[in-house]
Amino acid sequence: MKKTKVVVIGVGAVGSTTAYTLLLRSRMDELVLIDANAGKAVGDALDMNHGMPFLGHTKVWAGTYEDCKDADIVIITAGAAQKPGEPRLNLLKRNVAIYESIVTEVLKYNDDGILLIATNPVDIMSYFCWKKSGWPTNRVIGSGTLLDSARFRYLIGEKLQLDPRSVHAHIIGEHGDSELPVWSLANVAGSSIALSEEEKSDIFIHTRDAAYEIIEAKGATYYAIALALDRIVTAILCNESAVLNVSTLVENYHGLSDVYMGVPCVVDRQGVREVLDIKVTEEEKALLHRSAGKLKDLIETISV
Ligand code: NAD
Ligand code: LAC
Repeated sequence: MKKTKVVVIGVGAVGSTTAYTLLLRSRMDELVLIDANAGKAVGDALDMNHGMPFLGHTKVWAGTYEDCKDADIVIITAGAAQKPGEPRLNLLKRNVAIYESIVTEVLKYNDDGILLIATNPVDIMSYFCWKKSGWPTNRVIGSGTLLDSARFRYLIGEKLQLDPRSVHAHIIGEHGDSELPVWSLANVAGSSIALSEEEKSDIFIHTRDAAYEIIEAKGATYYAIALALDRIVTAILCNESAVLNVSTLVENYHGLSDVYMGVPCVVDRQGVREVLDIKVTEEEKALLHRSAGKLKDLIETISV
């Protein structure tokens, strides 16, 4: 049987935490770490290998782009991260320049894997990868608003004193300042969420601004995004057909086309199998258009 292989490009805060999370959960047979700072990748691989007596079978090594050959999933987390107070969209030019060479290298060795993008601004970086790779959109996926939706569900769960896994609620649009909550569909056991407008607004603001709060406090976010990336990897490798709010290309979606953004998608071994056409209110639709408009304006500033 073919071995499952995952490559993580960029083993800074997000990449190394993601690699470690994947390892703890034994998601693959082979895990390759790549970073411009080769020493970091070598050190992380050594450190993780020394944990093998407690874990099991995964082979981990610091590799080169040649190791992308036969990879089932290539996760890219390389690039510049926000300074305290800095919006994600500020990172665009720097990270597109970094991705130019990374994607070119990956494509030399892999043409049938899945690209999973986490670098910010994640929706535009995913669009860039889709265009540059020429791969079908189902195989170029951004982490999208999966993390934001998790934050949203956690905060609703806290307020209602319920397990967040029992809260069904979605953040859609940009992974960033223009994202929106779909309160009209939020539910627990099929019943809508009984909170005041003020409580809802407070929950959404804390969801949207969570990264600013964490970056201000400790410089970076990495645990929850690592779990979100692990969730996507699992849905792919285990052919789950799970509904996850990842970033994908939308076409004729509430009147929107040719933009990557976070929306509920069915994720399986093919990547994004299907984009779910959820019913939103007119007000939510207007916010979605505003978010997509912002992303489209920025897409026009990059050349692929
Ligand atoms: P970091 O600075 O800790 O790590 C970035 C890593 O990328 C470094 O190890 C660096 O050496 C490496 N790198 C830079 N250029 C490279 C290149 N050309 N090739 C290979 N490696 C290269 O940053 P971080 O905190 O890990 O954040 C990484 C990215 O993830 C940022 O863009 C951040 O905004 C984003 N992020 C996204 C989410 C999300 O929800 N999608 C969540 C958290 C962070
Ligand atoms: C997040 C990153 C910074 O934690 O995008 O939301």
